[in-house]
Amino acid sequence: MIETRSPVPRAGILDVPLYPGALLPEPIPGTIKLNSNENLFGPSPNVYEAIRAELRRGELQYYPAVEARTLNVALAAHYGLESDNVLTMGGGELLLPTILQTFVHPDCEILCYNDGFPKYLNYSLMATASLITVSREGDAVSQILGALTPRTTAVLIDNPGNPSGRLLPIEDVRAIWQNLRSDILLILDEAYVEYCDFGDAGLRLATETENTLVVRTFSKAYALAGMRVGWVNGHINLIRPLRRILPSFPLSRLSLVSALAALADQDHLKRSVAELRCLRDDAASRFQRAGWDVGPCEGNFIVIRRGIHTSDDLGRVFSSLKDGGVLVRPLSEFRGESALRMTIGRAVDMARVWDLLRI
Ligand SMILES: Cc1ncc(COP(=O)(O)O)c(C=O)c1O
Repeated sequence: MIETRSPVPRAGILDVPLYPGALLPEPIPGTIKLNSNENLFGPSPNVYEAIRAELRRGELQYYPAVEARTLNVALAAHYGLESDNVLTMGGGELLLPTILQTFVHPDCEILCYNDGFPKYLNYSLMATASLITVSREGDAVSQILGALTPRTTAVLIDNPGNPSGRLLPIEDVRAIWQNLRSDILLILDEAYVEYCDFGDAGLRLATETENTLVVRTFSKAYALAGMRVGWVNGHINLIRPLRRILPSFPLSRLSLVSALAALADQDHLKRSVAELRCLRDDAASRFQRAGWDVGPCEGNFIVIRRGIHTSDDLGRVFSSLKDGGVLVRPLSEFRGESALRMTIGRAVDMARVWDLLRI
């Protein structure tokens, strides 16, 4: 008799926890989703017009632009970069593992902070590398530098971080870079950068140096999470190998026109980011006044923990909101932390939150 055996996944794959987002139920219509750091302000109205125009063109039978080049050129023009040094793909979720697979050799180490984006573990595994995490406590720069080994091949920093909400100032980022061996890749994951005052300092570092890559996304400030668009910028010597393995047609026609339209409407972006920042400040002070500890909040979300003056508990906050149709993310799902992460929505969404919590 022929012995039957199933294909066996690589060691470690089944040990990676499923990302909590993958376990989320489909939201009931009318639910306010403040649990996935999406942008409830929505994209520029021009995006929907661009999609309709693309559909009217009736060319879905043809491949879209090779390497999404039209978008690379538009991004380069907008951010003052060389278009040959920009590559586009379906979100940071695809770019980050692809970068690691390109530059991190098997059995090498990737270094990040222990409050970094939880999916860095999955991406490291895809690159058959070990993820080494360090605390930020004390001196965040020395923590990274002290953990470098001959096997370190990449340092990965989410800046601002999710779910940490922290921003590492450019002086610290530069201090890390200055002390890295030149063969170690510094990757700055700037998914939320538009929500803080970091500006394009990371892109400048990527332009000036030969071992820095900056990854950005259209999912957050540009409100195109549903279209899956991200991009990377760095020295041509880093981009050239990436081009060898990136898909020839990394974005669908609809994603491409959406991103082009969103990028072109900077007024919409600026307005929605400014409004979100006001609502974020208001949320932080309301929670603080009610006695909660509020973490750093440089992204489009805030994180609350039980403070010494809080009489309430996180479970009650979570269920009051859930019962009132507002979903937030318990961070216990990420790392067993006692904290809640709440994406900042529009004024109307936040009004429902304050109504339900009475703060
Ligand atoms: C820190 C960070 N990096 C990368 C991503 C991936 O973003 P996307 O794949 O939507 O571009 C996210 C998504 O939430 C994130 O929080």
